[in-house]
Amino acid sequence: MLKSIHATAGAFALTIISCFWLATVISELFTSPQTIATVKGLILWGMALLVPALVMVGGSGTYLGKGWRLPVVKAKSRRMKLIASNGLLILLPSATFLAMRADAEQLDTIFYAVQALELLAGATNIILLSLSFRDGLSLRRRRIQKTP
Ligand code: HEM
Repeated sequence: MLKSIHATAGAFALTIISCFWLATVISELFTSPQTIATVKGLILWGMALLVPALVMVGGSGTYLGKGWRLPVVKAKSRRMKLIASNGLLILLPSATFLAMRADAEQLDTIFYAVQALELLAGATNIILLSLSFRDGLSLRRRRIQKTP
């Protein structure tokens, strides 16, 4: 049961953050300032789903990881710390700033500088989450093979 919650929360977090990233790039390249403001507002609300999903995958992962000595589990744990710091220190503050700025239609140099930072932090988290998902699937295969 816990393994399913862990895997589902991980898949959900990965999907939602990828959607944020794509919606940002598409809206800012091809749409109007009003649409950009709507997308930035929706992303800020979406954070209310992303943060609990990350807490859930990190919490369940820490519990599942107890007693494992495999380097792959240590790597998952290390990545999770980076994912959480990135989220709390960069993604959440920049999503708030960008939504407020876009709402005021201030799409200036500061907006795009913070946007670039947010896209970079988002891409980093997408890569780290994907690596942990891949490692999770390899741990699952290992467990299935061991079960007689
Ligand atoms: C603190 C960070 C994490 C730790 C310590 C951790 C640890 C583990 C461990 C030990 C397992 C194997 C459980 C077992 O077979 O008994 C596992 C499975 C898994 N993990 Fe993680 N994990 C972490 C984060 C993540 C993240 C961020 C993702 C995805 C984005 C993820 C995706 C998965 C998946 C898909 C499985 C397979 C579940 C199954 O067997 O059905 N994990 N994890």
